[in-house]
Amino acid sequence: DWNMPDYIAEAVERIREQVGDEEVILGLSGGVDSSVAAALIHRAIGDQLTCVFVDHGLLRLNEGKMVMEMFAGRLHAKVIHVDASEQFLGHLKGITDPEQKRKIIGREFVEVFQAEAKKLPKAKWLAQGTIYPDVIESGGAKNKKAHTIKSHHNVGGLPETLGLKLLEPLRELFKDEVRELGVALGLPHDMVYRHPFPGPGLGVRILGEVKSEFADLLRRADAIFIDELRASDWYDKTSQAFAVFLPVKSVGVMGDGRTYEYVVALRAVQTQDFMTAHWAELPHSLLGKVSNRIINEVRGINRVVYDISGKPPATIEWE
Ligand code: XMP
Repeated sequence: DWNMPDYIAEAVERIREQVGDEEVILGLSGGVDSSVAAALIHRAIGDQLTCVFVDHGLLRLNEGKMVMEMFAGRLHAKVIHVDASEQFLGHLKGITDPEQKRKIIGREFVEVFQAEAKKLPKAKWLAQGTIYPDVIESGGAKNKKAHTIKSHHNVGGLPETLGLKLLEPLRELFKDEVRELGVALGLPHDMVYRHPFPGPGLGVRILGEVKSEFADLLRRADAIFIDELRASDWYDKTSQAFAVFLPVKSVGVMGDGRTYEYVVALRAVQTQDFMTAHWAELPHSLLGKVSNRIINEVRGINRVVYDISGKPPATIEWE
């Protein structure tokens, strides 16, 4: 058992010693690790830290707004919000292959981040929310996706290109310790206990070509699902849950008319390590409520299905 106030005091001292009076940049993603790293480093060095939040247009509903409210608003940290959604969507136009989509998103992400970093010539450090399991895993990526996770999440190669030193204050911590630290630093419980969200975001949850129209529909359907999971206490009983957009139209009826609209799949899994996973046995009443709400509230979706595939043989994400 560790003493949190002592830990924070020591970590803050270590960061101050390391950084001195130099400046630090950090890529904020909205995820747990980069958020906790940002809060800790901000606690240590305040305005010597600049966070760069790259919005690729593939975030969940209100995510960008929430990140800005938390870090710029509540913590008074310096945050540069880069809305790069048009650039990302532009480069994804016509691309349907999942790995190619990942590559493009990762590449654009590095490019946008680099361009921002160059505008901060005083920065000498690149901070990353690398945690202990990342350190172990980066020894040998287990599969293509795992490899992409690292290269995207921890902006591989960037420190060298930019001539920056690496600051990784969470390197020795496990996930649950990172979460405890986040709460102790004043981050909201819901942010710190969030399900993981992949770096390529909705880009791999819209099957095939990514279009902004699809992203808008998916964001709204996903928000309803998450909303109902939280309301029913199922959010914390699942490891990851989300909606997937299927670019397939099926027939439905609404009032006197026939509809011909898109399908959304719901995915909820329980897992310890994300290497294997069980589909969550959500109550039928909950699934029914989510389905009704999505079909009633999201015009353009007329059918909702539930994914009952385990991993293996299916993966957690659909791409
Ligand atoms: P799969 O779909 O491989 O997912 O069963 C296992 C875990 O990894 C996440 N995931 C990703 N995370 N970039 C990421 O940062 C990616 O490209 C990526 N692909 C999958 C997935 O959300 C799940 O938690």
